[in-house]
Amino acid sequence: MRLEEINAKSHGVLNILVIHNSKVDLKLYQKLLNNKKRNILTASSRKEALERLEKHEIALVLLDSIKSDKDGIEIAQEIFKKQGSKSVSIIFINELKSGHDEVLKNFELGTVDYIVKPFDNHTLQNKVHIFCNQHQQTELLRLKQIELEDSVRALKGEIESNREKDRLMFRQAKLAQMGEMISMIAHQWRQPLVVISSAAINLIMKDDLGVCNSKDIKECSETVQGQTQNLSKIIDEFINFTKPAKLKEVFSLKKIVDNIAKMMSPQLLGRNIKITNRVEENIELMGYPKELEQVLLNLFSNARDAHEGSLSAHKYIEVVSENKYSSITLYVRDNAGGIAHNIIDRIFNPYFTTKEEEKGTGIGLYMSKRIVEHSFKGRMHVLSQGDKTEFLIHIPKGTDG
Ligand SMILES: Nc1ncnc2c1ncn2[C@@H]1O[C@H](COP(=O)(O)OP(=O)(O)O)[C@@H](O)[C@H]1O
Ligand SMILES: [Mg+2]
Repeated sequence: MRLEEINAKSHGVLNILVIHNSKVDLKLYQKLLNNKKRNILTASSRKEALERLEKHEIALVLLDSIKSDKDGIEIAQEIFKKQGSKSVSIIFINELKSGHDEVLKNFELGTVDYIVKPFDNHTLQNKVHIFCNQHQQTELLRLKQIELEDSVRALKGEIESNREKDRLMFRQAKLAQMGEMISMIAHQWRQPLVVISSAAINLIMKDDLGVCNSKDIKECSETVQGQTQNLSKIIDEFINFTKPAKLKEVFSLKKIVDNIAKMMSPQLLGRNIKITNRVEENIELMGYPKELEQVLLNLFSNARDAHEGSLSAHKYIEVVSENKYSSITLYVRDNAGGIAHNIIDRIFNPYFTTKEEEKGTGIGLYMSKRIVEHSFKGRMHVLSQGDKTEFLIHIPKGTDG
């Protein structure tokens, strides 16, 4: 329900039901209470009263003489039952008899009142006015509460769907990284495969020339074994990288940077990109090292991609650290062409990419920033000037990641 509807409803015409044995008296009440904002309904029997309640939304009931007190209370109870959660008030109008307090005790305070006969018209009008106001306020609150509950429900739905989106994004990021890893493996395997294959060719050539001896065979076999171990080590690293992180640990920042730099170095060297790790030796962090590896992998592969179109003769990526009393800052810099001012504000947004469809997903930086903020309680920024770009990762000390 919109707020305007609520206001319209709570400021609209109120139905007041007057119950009295005598039709003449009912007419008098009508005359006394009628105004633009009220609709005075009447009933001269219990049956009629219940009918009116069935048909209309009643704000206030004036219960004058109806056969007996008992009847009055029963009607009142019936009324409250019918109204459910909607607010309704009842004013008993009675001759002064003992036991009024008893009557009132049967009901929740505030929803029931009584006027003693004989009363002057002014008292009645005042009381009705107050009750009408009170009803409007209560109704307004009730409707606002419904509105609030609606929006809480909507919000919950949204949170749930965001969670789903996050999960999806996380999976996409993981897949994109797997792609990166596979292309890295392909690069890293190239070298040992070349060595193995040339050892084999060498052996065959020697055999063709009739100069192959057992020493050659042994040497070749050792080369193949050594290189095979190399290949399997590369696979182990890959598996290790893709395994989900379970435990938080203290780890060396320099070592993590080294791991990723090493993994990527065949690719980078092939593109003439020099990577330098100038992180101080003694910096230790607490958390999931693999998550930081993911961040570095994203940053390095972005720099690598940016270098693709750069004209620089000395292409580089460098990582520098700054160890302060209360925080550590990691700078990842490159001279791959810089980031244009009109897009730099958007690069951390999910799905923002300037790359072709099969090359970019636009979630690398989004996930990286998330990891820095959530897992390391840190901050991540970017600066770019000319052909240079610098990503800053700021991690406070004393948080356990
Ligand atoms: N080092 C960088 N140099 C230039 N542009 C960059 C660099 N890093 C990121 N970008 C820009 O930020 C965008 C978003 O990066 P990212 O979130 O990793 O997604 P993706 O790599 O899939 O495009 C990239 O498409 C690119 O335009
Ligand atoms: Mg990327």
